[in-house]
Amino acid sequence: MKLILLLIGAIGAIGARACQRELTLANTHRHVKRQSSNATFPPVLDTNEQILTNSFDNTSISQWSYYYTHGNHVAGLNKTMAQWTADKFAEYGFTSRLDEYEVFLNYPVSHSLSLTYANGSTLSASLTEAVLAEDDTTSYPDSIGTFNGYSFSGNASAEYVYVGRGQQVDFKRLQALGVELEGKIALAKYGGPFRGLKVKNAQEHGMIGAVIFVDPGDDGNMTEANGVIPYPNGPARNPTSVQRGSVQFLSIYPGDPTTPGYVSKPGVLRADKSGSVPHIPSIPISWLDAQPILQALDGYGTNGTAVNRTKWIGGIPNVTYSTGQGSGARLSMSNIMNDTYNPIYDAIGILNGTNQDEVLVIGNHRDAWIVGGAADPNSGSAVLIELAKAFQALSKTGWKPLRTIVLASWDAEEYGLVGSTEWVEEYIPWLKTSAISYLNVDVAVAGPIPDFSATPDLHAIATDVMKKVIYPFHGDTSHTLYDVWQSISGGEFGVLGSGSDYTAFLHRGIASIDLGAGGGPDDPIYHYHSNYDSYHWMATFGDPGFHTHKAIGQYLTLLAYHLANDPVLPLEPADYAPALTSYLADLEDTISATSSNSTLDLTSLSTAISAFVDSATQFNTLRTLALSTNDAGLLAVVNHKARDFSRGFTSQGGLPGREFFQNLLFAPGLDTGYAPVTFPGVTESITFEGNFTLAGEFVGRTAKAVEVAAAILRT
Ligand SMILES: *[C@@H]1O[C@H](CO)[C@@H](O)[C@H](O)[C@H]1NC(C)=O
Ligand SMILES: *[C@@H]1O[C@H](CO)[C@@H](O)[C@H](O)[C@H]1NC(C)=O
Ligand SMILES: *[C@@H]1O[C@H](CO)[C@@H](O)[C@H](O)[C@H]1NC(C)=O
Ligand SMILES: *[C@@H]1O[C@H](CO)[C@@H](O)[C@H](O)[C@H]1NC(C)=O
Ligand SMILES: *[C@@H]1O[C@H](CO)[C@@H](O)[C@H](O)[C@H]1NC(C)=O
Ligand SMILES: *[C@@H]1O[C@H](CO)[C@@H](O)[C@H](O)[C@H]1NC(C)=O
Ligand SMILES: *[C@@H]1O[C@H](CO)[C@@H](O)[C@H](O)[C@H]1NC(C)=O
Ligand SMILES: *[C@@H]1O[C@H](CO)[C@@H](O)[C@H](O)[C@H]1NC(C)=O
Ligand SMILES: *[C@@H]1O[C@H](CO)[C@@H](O)[C@H](O)[C@H]1NC(C)=O
Ligand SMILES: *[C@@H]1O[C@H](CO)[C@@H](O)[C@H](O)[C@H]1NC(C)=O
Ligand SMILES: *[C@@H]1O[C@H](CO)[C@@H](O)[C@H](O)[C@H]1NC(C)=O
Ligand SMILES: *[C@@H]1O[C@H](CO)[C@@H](O)[C@H](O)[C@H]1NC(C)=O
Ligand SMILES: [Zn+2]
Repeated sequence: MKLILLLIGAIGAIGARACQRELTLANTHRHVKRQSSNATFPPVLDTNEQILTNSFDNTSISQWSYYYTHGNHVAGLNKTMAQWTADKFAEYGFTSRLDEYEVFLNYPVSHSLSLTYANGSTLSASLTEAVLAEDDTTSYPDSIGTFNGYSFSGNASAEYVYVGRGQQVDFKRLQALGVELEGKIALAKYGGPFRGLKVKNAQEHGMIGAVIFVDPGDDGNMTEANGVIPYPNGPARNPTSVQRGSVQFLSIYPGDPTTPGYVSKPGVLRADKSGSVPHIPSIPISWLDAQPILQALDGYGTNGTAVNRTKWIGGIPNVTYSTGQGSGARLSMSNIMNDTYNPIYDAIGILNGTNQDEVLVIGNHRDAWIVGGAADPNSGSAVLIELAKAFQALSKTGWKPLRTIVLASWDAEEYGLVGSTEWVEEYIPWLKTSAISYLNVDVAVAGPIPDFSATPDLHAIATDVMKKVIYPFHGDTSHTLYDVWQSISGGEFGVLGSGSDYTAFLHRGIASIDLGAGGGPDDPIYHYHSNYDSYHWMATFGDPGFHTHKAIGQYLTLLAYHLANDPVLPLEPADYAPALTSYLADLEDTISATSSNSTLDLTSLSTAISAFVDSATQFNTLRTLALSTNDAGLLAVVNHKARDFSRGFTSQGGLPGREFFQNLLFAPGLDTGYAPVTFPGVTESITFEGNFTLAGEFVGRTAKAVEVAAAILRT
């Protein structure tokens, strides 16, 4: 489901643009910058790297993409596609199987939405995306309608309130303006928090339904208002496009909402799910359907400018984004879902390594809301098949990986990371003792701009491998991926929040990276979770020629190769040191920004960080010794320390009110879902609870976690 945030920056040549992620948090993360140094061009590769790289073919990638984007593959509805994937893994030399889970899912039966003006006349929303002659899959009869996964079945008829992006701060602002929320329907704009949290916030304010619209104001320069032609004839947003998606409360619990913390197998006890899915109905709509609904509020209550909230005003023409108290207009909505328990299938491929106690997992989800899904997730699926093919080319030379490689094609990611979470819950004893890293590729390509988020121990190898890949950027093929990434991101990795399948791994203390490429303000609009995220869009606008797919695939493959094969496991525990220091500085800023007079003693945390720095130094000394003495036993010891130390950052009890999230260094924000918060137990006890006692408890727990990691590293 990964949302590629639009990168707002200046257009122009490489080197001229600054990347600014859409930060929704009180504190901005001080990302750890990597040293800039010039990569050789063209890159110099060793024989194995050449075999892997040369195996990549844009035409075969486009064939895999075509396969995945021409059949209904909503979670649980296409076992054939799961088996096809497992068969491909087997064809390329991996031992393959399907891992099956029985999970709660729901599918749309019917829905409707109408607007009634004060004068009694009514208008029905179309709730459909236009069928386009140019784009074959938009007319597939079995394509599923515009709906929210895990939404509640019900009707609502009431006055409605525009709530901006639906964050808690937006609701606070409405309350301050005296806007009545109880018993009303929320009209929310996409952007900012994960959509399920918009519905959660509405529900918690006594609202009885939610309608969520896509806004062209989030489309950078690529808008019809700027004179850009919409899809299918041009790169701007098709005005009928709708963003489907799950309304699970992603920051509380991912996975099957009826089996928190345990595996969804037939016959298991099903828990009450009301804490992680909504109990009010919701419907996603296009900006075209939203326009008259917003316009009916114009001139009433407080206008958008006066509300004065971040991104409150969007880009729908002729709308003031008023809160609209007193317009007399009403909405009537109905959303009927079929609640079921259905089998889902994770396709798994395994290539045994010599060291079976060291396992690399590479995953991509396969399910999509729509028949297409050419970017999300099947650009990643196509790349994963091509990766398997490349490893077969290398195996043919007699090569065998040092470490075991596991490929995973997840099902039901879109409903709430279900396939990966259930799988981690099933295999956690094995993963805890042997996983060296998890590499996630969800949206491999939705545009040309590389974007990587990773745990700090993966930054060094992830950077080095970028220098080995030629990366096409707006038609220019004279740079490495490293050069392009450096000039766009300034050499910064993002911090992992949530929104894709790395979540369960990260929160069990496994080193993780999420990689892919998205669009900037001047690139074609990627119609996230819409029928227009199709093969036709990808081949015409997103990645004509599939060259970016090829480059991202080569990058993922070489990264996997080094992690699975380098005698010295290329994880750098010491790179956590500057990261921890910057998270501590952020926390200090958060504390001083609160109006409360309470103080928090952070001594234990800074002491733990110093202990970690010492351990990392000792670890590096030991690793140098292992190398210089060529001592295999000692090398195994240091490799296992590198594999294991990050397990220390997790705590059994998890974060306040969300036991699943065990990593005490980073987690999705409670009210963001996608975007991360660092030292979340401490930070959110302050920013959400205002509870310094709880914050103090979590300073202790977080310090303890850092101490445990330091102890594992210590020699
Ligand atoms: C990188 O290359 C540029 C231009 O060739 C040069 O000016 C710069 O000093 C180089 N930087 C490093 C770190 O080598
Ligand atoms: C499953 O996906 C394949 C490939 O896209 C497609 O050919 C097939 O029709 C789909 N099956 C179902 C039941 O939709
Ligand atoms: C009712 O009000 C709406 C919005 O102002 C207007 O478009 C419509 O024409 C009106 N209908 C009648 C019957 O007056
Ligand atoms: C494109 O967007 C950027 C950032 O919003 C802005 O600085 C630039 O002026 C825009 N360019 C055009 C042609 O609209
Ligand atoms: C919005 O409301 C404020 C305060 O009432 C007013 O000054 C301003 O002119 C209004 N703006 C628009 C665009 O209506
Ligand atoms: C808008 O809100 C910000 C703080 O959130 C405040 O600094 C600014 O003065 C406000 N602007 C207006 C016009 O009220
Ligand atoms: C906005 O309003 C103007 C003036 O009434 C009208 O000409 C234009 O078509 C409207 N645009 C949209 C997209 O509704
Ligand atoms: C609901 O799903 C079940 C099982 O998937 C199916 O048998 C039933 O026909 C569906 N009912 C409706 C109303 O779609
Ligand atoms: C891979 O290793 C596992 C565990 O040792 C073993 O059961 C399996 O047979 C091996 N697979 C192959 C293809 O050698
Ligand atoms: C693959 O790349 C070649 C060379 O640029 C191009 O001619 C071909 O059309 C591409 N294949 C596809 C399927 O786009
Ligand atoms: C903080 O302390 C000052 C001075 O003692 C006091 O005036 C103020 O009310 C206190 N604020 C809070 C939020 O307790
Ligand atoms: C603050 O947290 C502490 C420790 O968990 C708890 O005992 C206390 O009830 C909380 N206070 C409030 C006001 O929620
Ligand atoms: Zn996805």
